[in-house]
Amino acid sequence: MAATSETRAIFVTGLKNAHAMEKQALSIMKPQVSRIENYPEVAARLEWHIRETEGQIARLEDVLESLAEGHSSLKDVALSLTGSMAAIGHAVTGDEIIKNSLANFAFENFEIAAYKSLITIAEHGGFPGLVPVLRHNLDEEIAMARWLDDNLESVTMKFASLKEAGLSAKV
Ligand SMILES: [Fe+2]
Repeated sequence: MAATSETRAIFVTGLKNAHAMEKQALSIMKPQVSRIENYPEVAARLEWHIRETEGQIARLEDVLESLAEGHSSLKDVALSLTGSMAAIGHAVTGDEIIKNSLANFAFENFEIAAYKSLITIAEHGGFPGLVPVLRHNLDEEIAMARWLDDNLESVTMKFASLKEAGLSAKV
């Protein structure tokens, strides 16, 4: 299928939304990292994913640039769904690390869905050359979601043991 002006418009909108999504990801992860004291493995993985996310943003900007949709047209709109997930993460309560783990898992899966949709448009809407770069971002999101999934049990167990030791106030 060739790129029509309609598929192109859908694709560009999706790319801009993905850009806004990744900016929001940074605004969620950075404050989390700065507050973590007792979960260095979580902090390290988040630091890693912050760097990956910065690369993803640069890739999306390159893609938009290649479609003659430069930075000036990038108005980062807040996404209501991701916004509410971020609000969950920002709630400061005694179980902040757990809430953040759940919110991050939700956010990463939202990102996975977004890139799968963009790849579908790229593949079938006339932009096959852009599939590999989008797949690069997708693979990083899948790896992060898997890490969060694999580590939910250990983070929960550690939270429980710290709480028993009277250290529940610390993230
Ligand atoms: Fe991500």
